[in-house]
This record gives sequence, structure tokens and C-alpha cells, in this order.
Amino acid sequence: MLKTSDLSIEKINNLLQDADDFSKGKVLKAKDEVYVANLFFEDSTRTKTSFDVAERKLGLKVVPFDISVSSVNKGESLYDTVKTLKSLGIDLCVIRHKKEKFYDEFKGIDIAVINGGDGTGNHPSQNILDLMTIQQEFGKFEGLKIGIVGDVKHSRVANSNAEVLRKLGAKVYFSGPEQWFDEGTIINGTYVSIDDLVKEVDVLMLLRIQHERHENDEKMKLSAEKYHRQFGLTKEREKTMKKNAIIMHPAPINRGVEIADELVECKRSRIFKQMENGVFARMAILKTALEERGFEFM
Ligand code: ASP
Ligand code: CP
Repeated sequence: MLKTSDLSIEKINNLLQDADDFSKGKVLKAKDEVYVANLFFEDSTRTKTSFDVAERKLGLKVVPFDISVSSVNKGESLYDTVKTLKSLGIDLCVIRHKKEKFYDEFKGIDIAVINGGDGTGNHPSQNILDLMTIQQEFGKFEGLKIGIVGDVKHSRVANSNAEVLRKLGAKVYFSGPEQWFDEGTIINGTYVSIDDLVKEVDVLMLLRIQHERHENDEKMKLSAEKYHRQFGLTKEREKTMKKNAIIMHPAPINRGVEIADELVECKRSRIFKQMENGVFARMAILKTALEERGFEFM
């Protein structure tokens, strides 16, 4: 489970079905002992914690691994860290790392790896929980209009969601500061001004500005107020949205920047629903990844 674009539509649908079953109370436990470790080289609240909860719900043995007190700090490479965990009996690692396609290094290691986010690349478990949330709302993807707004250039959520949503028949539009739409940033991306976009879409997906990825790029820096006024979901813009349109955001949220504080928990917001779905989507992902390696659940 490295990028959602590797998955067939059938496999995506199977994951969504499993996630839906788990959300409705289906209980499955690993038949044998399965050891898993969550390695987060970048900060996380939702992904790390929801994988942890999902693993425990599936009866997996979660082995604590804290990067900040590990031998990574003595210069051990990512490859050696993962190979070491394999030698110690870990069957599956969930990894988040700032390096795009970090998983290419593990080709020779016989271990299951789930990508918890690779730099600006992909965020497959976020994609599945987002698809789950959209499906719960509309029951389909075909023909839906999805607007993705903000720092699309640096957001692994924007890029990976756009790809899979298009594959499933949705129409994807983008908005935000134009310097984040350099040629080639978004394959076949259609840019629409924020005021036009909010009126048109069924799903408005807002993004956090990825400040941690802007270090060497001064021109990307905008004040919070200016960003909110020009590109954020203000209370005024929200009033122009379609009756049944929903608001999504992968979070963490910078309230008052990409979205007005009062809208984070408004009626059309599904932001906390996305988080709730995250546990079930990750249970489905773990189950599938482990079944592919011959582990059984009952
Ligand atoms: N949490 C998401 C990610 O890790 C989105 C974000 O951080 O803005 O990509
Ligand atoms: N949405 C998401 O990936 O959140 P975290 O960065 O807190 O894991």
C-alpha cells in the first residue's frame, strides 16, 4: 500500500467495502500473532493514532517505536532501520517520511510496508478515508465535482486524491494562489477562481499551507489574513455553496487561514467524520496488506 494509483478500481472498491463493514461494527481479529511498528519520521496526530487504534482493533501486536529515542539519531539509515525491525520479527511497518518514494529503498526486504505519507508524493490511507467519506455522502464518484483548494503543489493529499478521484469518474478542479500551480504540478488540472469554485462543487476540499515544505521558497509565504481573504473559505463564500455540498479537510487545520473558525464544525463540514472514518479505512488497509502476505483473519 504505497500509492493509491497502483490500485485497481476493484481493489479500491473492496477496501471501501471492508471499511464500511468495519464502520458498521464488523469484528475481525488476526488468527496468528502479527507484529507491527509505526515509524513516523514526520509529525502526525491522526494517521499515527488511527493506525495504532486500527491495529489494536484487529488484534495485531503493536510494537512501540519512537524515532526520537531510536538509533536513527546515531546515523542509522532508513533501510537499516527497516531491515533491523524485520530481523527482530516485525511483519508490517507503517512509515511516514519526508523523502518522496522512500519505500523504493526496501525492495530487497521481505516486509509489508504501508505508506503513511511520503513527502509531497502520496498519502494512500488519507485517500481511502476521503473516498469513504464522499461515498457515504453521495453514494457515487461518477460526475461529482470536487474542488481542491490551497497548496496543491506541496500537498501529497491534493495530488493523490486528484488522481484517484479522476480514475473513479469525478471531475476535479483546483484553486488557490497561482504560484502553486506551476506547469506540471497537477496533471490535467483545471484552475478556477475561488469565488467561482465554491458555487460549483459538490465537495470542497481545503488544504493546509505546507509551511514545512517551503523552506527555500520565500515567494510562497503569504500572511494568514491575506491568504484567508483571497483564497480561504470565508463565511461569505460558504453561503454561496450548493445546498448539499460538503466541506472536507485532511487536517491539521489552521483555523482562520484556509477555513473560517466557525465553519470547521458547521453543518456541511465532514472534517471530524473524515477522522472517524480514518480508523475503519486503516483497518481495511491493514487487513488487505496482511492477507496479501498470507496472514488470516477470523
Ligand atoms: N496531515 C496531512 C498530511 O500529512 C495534511 C497536512 O499535514 O496538511 O499530508
Ligand atoms: N491528515 C493527516 O494525515 O493528519 P496527521 O498529519 O495528523 O497524521
